Amino acid sequence: MAERWTPDTWRRKPAMQLPEYPDAAALAEVEKQLASFPPLVFAGEARTLTRHLDRVAAGEAFLLHGGDCAESFAEHGADNIRDFFRVFLQMAVVLTFAAALPVVKIGRIAGQFAKPRSSPTEERNGVELPSYRGDIINDIEFTAAARTPDPRRQIEAYRQSAATLNLLRALAQGGYANLGSVHKWMLGFVKDSPQSRRYTELADRISEALGFMQAIGLDLEDHPELRTTDVYTSHEALLLGYEQAMTRVDSTSGEWYSTSGHFLWIGDRTRQLDHAHVEFCRGIRNPLGLKCGPSLKADELLRLIDVLNPDNAPGRLTLICRMGADKIGDLLPPLVRAVTREKREVVWSCDPMHGNTIASASGYKTRPFDRILSEVKSFFAIHQAEGTYAGGVHLEMTGQNVTECTGGARAISEEDLNDRYHTFCDPRLNAEQSIELAFLLAELLKKERLGRGLPLPAAAGL
Ligand code: PEP
Ligand code: CO
Repeated sequence: MAERWTPDTWRRKPAMQLPEYPDAAALAEVEKQLASFPPLVFAGEARTLTRHLDRVAAGEAFLLHGGDCAESFAEHGADNIRDFFRVFLQMAVVLTFAAALPVVKIGRIAGQFAKPRSSPTEERNGVELPSYRGDIINDIEFTAAARTPDPRRQIEAYRQSAATLNLLRALAQGGYANLGSVHKWMLGFVKDSPQSRRYTELADRISEALGFMQAIGLDLEDHPELRTTDVYTSHEALLLGYEQAMTRVDSTSGEWYSTSGHFLWIGDRTRQLDHAHVEFCRGIRNPLGLKCGPSLKADELLRLIDVLNPDNAPGRLTLICRMGADKIGDLLPPLVRAVTREKREVVWSCDPMHGNTIASASGYKTRPFDRILSEVKSFFAIHQAEGTYAGGVHLEMTGQNVTECTGGARAISEEDLNDRYHTFCDPRLNAEQSIELAFLLAELLKKERLGRGLPLPAAAGL
């Protein structure tokens, strides 16, 4: 029998990665204020997302999950959000059209501010200061004042999340996502690339299909699914005081939901069974993710699944595997087998980013595109061999033309990293690399369909 849960029971458990605020009274005041603010998302939306993820668990849809490693206050602007949205839409269209599968889109956005760190402090030239933990906690500047956790940043993060979500909703519902605009989503700097040619070909086919439907008398304006789309928000449930303040009882179901985002995940560093982050997440009804890194053993995973999804409800839990290209072959199959043997309903998603971070010769954190691709390919091959469904990917990506991950069709080299290395935390795929990855994923999904004996869509040749 599970112990009684309330939004604050996590406070009685040990917790990793939480900041120490010097001013407890200021923190309490901020949390009180946040608790009185309007919800960012609604329980009904989180339930709808769970139903979509239930389809992914059943092998009938694919999950595209991605966005910034860390959002920042400094880069909060309409162009950034729109460019991310554009690339995300392009990727979703590539996957939907080429693989004939509905794509569930979840952004790491509108709340992805808190970062777990491998070391609590950072040293530079003999000076040691607290590590940067994300803009919701402290400032990246290397001074003692900037690195001191400041609770008022939570209010700013809330307000930025609200503004970001507002623009996302407008882009998704207000006409920008109209399939008739499929050509317009191409970003200027991607236009002269091989990805652009492939994408334009695909966009031409979509326009042709829409033209045909119109010609036979279908009024496209009557079909909201052609004019609008759904994009959900997500972030790591790391800063538990903030999450608790945003957690409310849903008046329809009487259940607790976090209203800080639709989907929350538990990071690889905070997934201890008897600790605070698992305790908090088990009680909210939002769909959850659990990062599964190299140290996770099968029996531990099964216990975590029991705690996080005791009813074994499909769509409730997504396992986001981030083993690393060189380890996935050994480490993922035992987890897949244990989960299958125990008949646990999960979505299997692949995070090919966090297990493949290396330091470049010049000291930049980077991720080689071929390692990212290699982990994704192994993920699909393992699921094919085990008879399970490779349900999604989890990516760190941006709509900007950055140089943070090496490789890809434009062959970004280690020397190029210095050109436009903008990330506040981990290296992200740029717009071109993201679209390139989407085409490669579409190939893998087509193969997967063939493996299951499903017919290939008309667009299979693309
Ligand atoms: C992240 O997703 O940014 C992250 C820190 O991942 P992980 O918990 O898998 O290391
Ligand atoms: Co990251």
